[in-house]
Formats: sequence, structure tokens, C-alpha cells
Amino acid sequence: MPDHDTRRDAARLADSRLTDKDCERYAGMTAGLKAIQIASILTPQPAAEEEFAEREAFIKGLLGSGTDAGGRAHKLAALTSNMNRDEIKELVAPTATPPAPDPNLPTPYERARKEADRLIAKRKREILERECFGLVEFVEPAHGFDVVGGMEEVKKDLMVIAESIREGRTSRVPMGILFTGPMGTGKTFVAEAFAKECGLTTIKLKNFRSKWVGATEGNLEKILNVIRAIGQVVVIIDEGDRAFGNTDSEGDGGTSSRVIARIKEFMSDTSNRGRILFLVMTNRPDKLDVDLKRAGRLDRKIPFLYVQTPEEVELVAKALLRKNKIKTDVELATIRDGFSSKLVGYSNADIEAVILLANEDAARESGGDAAVLDHHFLRAAVDYFPSRDQELLDYMELLAVFESSSRRLLPAKYASLTPEDLDARLRHLRAIVGNRR
Ligand SMILES: Nc1ncnc2c1ncn2[C@@H]1O[C@H](COP(=O)(O)OP(=O)(O)O)[C@@H](O)[C@H]1O
Ligand SMILES: [Mg+2]
Repeated sequence: MPDHDTRRDAARLADSRLTDKDCERYAGMTAGLKAIQIASILTPQPAAEEEFAEREAFIKGLLGSGTDAGGRAHKLAALTSNMNRDEIKELVAPTATPPAPDPNLPTPYERARKEADRLIAKRKREILERECFGLVEFVEPAHGFDVVGGMEEVKKDLMVIAESIREGRTSRVPMGILFTGPMGTGKTFVAEAFAKECGLTTIKLKNFRSKWVGATEGNLEKILNVIRAIGQVVVIIDEGDRAFGNTDSEGDGGTSSRVIARIKEFMSDTSNRGRILFLVMTNRPDKLDVDLKRAGRLDRKIPFLYVQTPEEVELVAKALLRKNKIKTDVELATIRDGFSSKLVGYSNADIEAVILLANEDAARESGGDAAVLDHHFLRAAVDYFPSRDQELLDYMELLAVFESSSRRLLPAKYASLTPEDLDARLRHLRAIVGNRR
């Protein structure tokens, strides 16, 4: 894989019009691509129709309002396809004042750069997904933090980490982050929103268990090389307990345990610190490989818990109204008693279900685009019945509290819990639900 300087030179060779700044930028953006791939993307394309129309308008402006200016401009536009504006003006009407460019429109140069940016992102994705045998997927989520309700501390922490990566303050960046908490608390959702916000390439190691079984160890090395070459990258591993769980009974001649061992080794390679950030999610940190939890691999642990207060329910609910583009003027705080107070302890996924139920109710009552009113929300809150294994959820919540690397991230009721209390409660629940899923 070419290094930064080589990629910058490849960009310059591909398109001599690029400024030094552009070349630097492309060198960064194209990390993970081969020089020949960079060249093929950046080499200027033949003039597009759009450019023709623009040239024609420019020439028409030069020719003024004389008879047949339109027809002449059309012909001249075809003949001047490889000339720049100064040359065209010199040729067509050296004494005319060129039409003033519309300051609201991007210049052709800016447009070309934008198009190149889009192409690089698209091609890079295609090339890397192919070179990674479909085991790696680029994450390009629709939503950012604007639709994540509450979790202010977590969002802030994550953004500080992303900034440290972008600015190369590597010692400030954890090797890996673990999101723990029961299902439906937003681990996957926040990870994806983070991918959108952080400004870093984000990839997901796909469907580990079943897929990697077929991967040869040679392929794996190639993939790890690609990841390293991308640099400044967030690598998401969802449902980490399944990906890295117990490998004893695999029955594939040990391939998957070797693959997993190699990935673990890669995750603890400190020379990647600050350049590759692993984000692992699980609701069963107790089943996660102990090596992985050891300090030095996933060294920041963030608890995801069910909402604890009516105010938090309202923050999440408002975010979900935005996300689902639901029409309503209801101020949720005014129906706190019958609505948000009832939903305390629900998962965020449950809260979403309640809101969607209210929306359906409104549509049934007054038609497709009717706004959702007080009584729809209140009715949905009564009607919705979360099906759940409460003991298991309690256990997952306590595990998340137990793993948390910071008391600051815990709600009041846990921040003051003594380690002995926590331990006793965990032990009690483990005895009841330790083997349930
Ligand atoms: N903080 C939040 N604000 C708004 N909606 C959320 C939030 N967290 C989760 N959700 C909603 O709940 C759904 C389930 O969350 P998800 O990330 O799948 O949970 P997990 O991965 O922890 O099981 C998401 O699709 C999202 O719509
Ligand atoms: Mg999830």
C-alpha cells in the first residue's frame, strides 16, 4: 500500500491542475487505495454535457446580443472544448467584458473537485469491500447525534476521542471502546450515529462467526493490512460476545479460533493506537473473551442503561419523533403523568414502539397525515406491553454498571452503590439467569 507521500504524488500526476492543498487532501482521503486506483479516479474525465452548456453560456455572454449569437455560441462551444475561459475570450471577443460569474454557483473547478470527492468515496468503498472479501462493510448511516436523545456525556466523550484521532493526539485515544448494556438501549444506534459524526472512515467487521469460518488466514492478513493502510479508522464489532465468545466447540479444525486469536492480537497492537479505534458492543460482557476485556484492548467502557427518569424518556422520545418524522405539537412534559412516567425503565426500542403506535392510532382516527395528539400518546402508553425477561435485563444492566470505567457515566442510583453491594446483587442474579440469552 502506498504511503501518504506516494499517494500525494499519484494525485498530482493524475491531474496537474490540482493545488498543493488538494493533493494533500486527496493523499489523506485515498488512504487504503493503490496508486493506480487513485490515478484512475482522479484523472480528469472528458468534458461532460454540463461543461458544454456552461461554455456555451459564457460564449453567448461574450458575443452580446448580436444576430444569431445563440447559434454561433453553440458552434463555438463545440470547437473550444479543451480551452479555458481566458483562451476562449482571447479567441472569440478579445475586447469584450466577460460575463460576471454567478457568485452563487460553484465554479467548474469546485464542482469537479466535489465530484472527485464523491467518486473517491464510492470507489474506495467498492474497492475495499471487494479486497476484504465481503467481510468488511462500510458504515454510512443516515442519522447522526441529532436523533440520539439524552446521553450527553457519552456523545461528548466520543467526539473528544474522534477529534484526538483526527488531530493525531494518539496518546489520548483509547485502544478500544466497549459499549455494554441490555438490548434496545441504543448501543448499535449510537455507534452508527458516531460513525456519521466523527468524520472518520468507519467499517464494520461483518457477521464474524459464520463468515470468518470460511476465511483463510491469508485473507485475514490481507484484510488487516487494508485496515491498517486506511488509518484513522473506526472498526465496529457488534454483538462482540458472539464474535469473540467461547471457541471450544467450533468443529472447523480450529480455524475460527486461530482467526479470532489473530484479530485479538491485532487489537492489542499498540502501534495502531490513535489510528485504529475498535468499538465493540455487547449485552453480555460476562461472556466476552477475558483477554479482550483486559486493560489495553478495550480500555474505555461505556454503560448503556434503560432510561431512569421521565425527563430522560422525553429526551429520547423527542429524538425519536425527529427520527421518524412524526407530526405533533404535543409538549410531552405536559402529559408526563400518563406518558413519560409510565415508560421509565422501558428500552429505547420500546419507547420507539410506543411512539409508532401513537402515530398509527392518529392515522387510523383522522387520516394519513394527521398530527399525533395528547390522547394518542396516552393511549399508546397504556396499550403497549413490553415483552421481556426482567431478571435477565436487570442482570445485563448490572453487568454494564460493573464494567463501567467511570462513575461519571452512571445514573445516581448506581453511582453510590458500593462494590460489595454490586457484587452481591450480581451474584444473586447470575445464579438465576446466568445461562439465559
Ligand atoms: N438515545 C436514543 N435516542 C433515540 N432513539 C434511540 C436511542 N437509543 C436507541 N434508540 C432507538 O432504539 C432502537 C434500538 O436501539 P439499538 O441500537 O438497536 O439497541 P442495542 O444495540 O443496544 O440493542 C434504535 O433503532 C433507535 O431507534
Ligand atoms: Mg445492537
